[in-house]
Amino acid sequence: MTSSIKVNQSNGNEKISEHIYGHFAEHLGRCVYEGIWVGEDSDIPNTRGIRNDVVNALRGLNIPNLRWPGGCFADEYHWKDGIGPREERPSIVNTNWGKVTESNHFGTHEFLDLCEQLECEPYICGNVGSGTVLEMQEWIEYITFDGESPMANLRRKNGREKAWKLKFFGIGNENWGCGGTMRVEKYADEYRQFQSFVKNFSGNEIYKIACGPSEADYHWTDVIMREGVGKYTPPVDRVIDSTWDHYRPSMHGIGLHYYTRNRANYTLAADFDEKQWFEYMKRTLFIEELIIKHGEVMDKHDPDKNVGLIIDEWGTWFKVEPGTNPGFLYQQNTLRDALIAGINLNIFNNHCDRVKMANIAQMINVLQAMILTDKEKMVLTPSYHVFEMFKVHQNAVLLPTEVESKSYSMDGDSIDQLNVSASQDDNGKVHISICNIHPTQSEEITCNIDGISSFSSAGGRILTSENINDHNTFEMTDRVKPEEFNDMKVEGNGLSITIPPKSVIVIELDPS
Ligand code: AHR
Repeated sequence: MTSSIKVNQSNGNEKISEHIYGHFAEHLGRCVYEGIWVGEDSDIPNTRGIRNDVVNALRGLNIPNLRWPGGCFADEYHWKDGIGPREERPSIVNTNWGKVTESNHFGTHEFLDLCEQLECEPYICGNVGSGTVLEMQEWIEYITFDGESPMANLRRKNGREKAWKLKFFGIGNENWGCGGTMRVEKYADEYRQFQSFVKNFSGNEIYKIACGPSEADYHWTDVIMREGVGKYTPPVDRVIDSTWDHYRPSMHGIGLHYYTRNRANYTLAADFDEKQWFEYMKRTLFIEELIIKHGEVMDKHDPDKNVGLIIDEWGTWFKVEPGTNPGFLYQQNTLRDALIAGINLNIFNNHCDRVKMANIAQMINVLQAMILTDKEKMVLTPSYHVFEMFKVHQNAVLLPTEVESKSYSMDGDSIDQLNVSASQDDNGKVHISICNIHPTQSEEITCNIDGISSFSSAGGRILTSENINDHNTFEMTDRVKPEEFNDMKVEGNGLSITIPPKSVIVIELDPS
């Protein structure tokens, strides 16, 4: 059997939100401190305390949004600890992540400065688990209110005259777990109350995101969708006019967290055999079932798909590197992570009618990171390169694909060898991203693009390496990096390609 990909250009009508390519930076291990924040007095070149090398590298990804300050940290974060003169800010204990001292030197101003340097939208996650409604209300006012008010004036006193824009706001994080161990019914009520005080000031409009389920907890999604998007019905004798509609709870998105991991047996990121390669590919592909099934539950309450499924934590989770703090979640990043990144992004693209945003965990030095740092040194990971290659899909129109793929089998179990998505950008260019999951077998593919008669140019880039566990180190920074890929033949609106094993490819076709 020859594998084939049919791309339907004429049926493309859904936009892939750029926000699917979002990131996440938590006060966890060396993500914020060392990875981003070194302080103004550091020898490492920085702009107002934020590392220049890291910002420059991240700018290559067109990061659309950045989630902060957690994660579990969000539900114990009190934002007023992180404003004002740094030397006067209180230190606290980071109880979730290694019980280390948190200096609060990186706070609201520093985070929003980072977003301005990256030119991305901030996505702040508020504290429901141990915070108050007033605290959350005042945070929004502090950041976004342009007029005269106690919070806006406090912001000015702390050196920022102009209000910031704040697009995304999360009402708590994992409130079924570290964010308060709540039953869904309790959280649904908390959501309704807290969100009422997340106000739009000075032309700023907030997209409110509810804490969603862990993995396959469909009941959580069902209750939150019912309570979050349901119309508030006041008692009959109190109905005066339709202005009651104003009290309807609003929820624009619901989160979903899914990590590619084996909780029963965490193993090292770079020390594995083919069996574990297969296992992790299979585990990561499961996210498609989660998207479909949570999507079906959402459809019941919201058939027009107004509420976005926001996969605000995803990625690989391995055993920490030997000799590092177990609470810091520092892991290597190999070609396996690159394939996993490509597979997930393809799946998100293909479900962009419901998946409106996603945030890989995490940006630097934690879990499936884009960048690893060691003092003044830094290295880009294979996952970084996949995000860089796939950025062409941001805001492009999804082109539906039909894929006939060979199977990749292991111990009686099998998965599709190929994983694909395609889009067309504003300039008419078609991009097809293909992952060949098989670690040893290349794949010959014929690919037809319905709706386009010919191409004036075709080219591509490939990310692969000799071994499945190859990775970049501070000594060998370019072992896994994208190369040009031209091993394809174009005829009319079709092409034949041989995809090397264990590779991620992005093909660009120019119809003009
Ligand atoms: O990303 C690490 C942690 O994983 C986050 O803090 C938490 O939300 C999740 O359990």
